[in-house]
Amino acid sequence: MHILTILDHPNPASFSAAVAEQFSIGAKAAGHTVEIADLHAEGFNPVFTMADTDTRDHSPAPQDVLQEQQRIARADAICLVFPLFWWGMPSMTKGWVDRVWSWGWAYDQLDDPEISLQRPRSGVLLVPAGARSDEMDQLGQTAALDTAWMQGTFGYFGFSPRKLEILNGATGSPARREALLARSYQAGATILPPRPA
Ligand SMILES: Cc1cc2nc3c(=O)[nH]c(=O)nc-3n(C[C@H](O)[C@H](O)[C@H](O)COP(=O)(O)O)c2cc1C
Repeated sequence: MHILTILDHPNPASFSAAVAEQFSIGAKAAGHTVEIADLHAEGFNPVFTMADTDTRDHSPAPQDVLQEQQRIARADAICLVFPLFWWGMPSMTKGWVDRVWSWGWAYDQLDDPEISLQRPRSGVLLVPAGARSDEMDQLGQTAALDTAWMQGTFGYFGFSPRKLEILNGATGSPARREALLARSYQAGATILPPRPA
């Protein structure tokens, strides 16, 4: 498969960047071709503007959005790597999602997350988070993210199968971080093919 990894972090030496790298190394070891899209390094503009709203009338999307859509078109699987910011996506990922997966290109339904205009793609989210998993589970935060992202956003994208891995304790001990990097490698090495529509 060809696997596209979308990385959102301004610091190339960040833990998130290391997660994306380990995921890609694992995917390559399993025989896949890989591409990492480093949104900050590439200067992607995440601000949704008037030009983005025009696509509802089937006007062509802005050039930078078209380029992202072409990159997605080549991919059989997509991995998003972004740190958990305030129990959600950082603004760069949010803007990439808002702008690139546009009405009329990704979806035209408002009521069925399983129906996407896109062919099925295997999808993995690797999300480093400072919080502990037991705390997030107890407070219902893990379930809330799973509902919003797995049953919402990434269903509309046609990600099937799709997997959310919150990498809890990403600001923890070196041993903890090593274990999370090993998990990222495994996520790449074991990524499943898209499920037929
Ligand atoms: C603006 C900001 C908001 C954050 N919000 C959360 C949060 O809501 N939950 C959480 O567990 N960690 C939160 N964190 C911690 C980050 O998830 C953590 O620093 C990151 O996963 C570590 O990876 P990095 O070195 O790649 O940044 C936040 C960090 C920043 C800078």
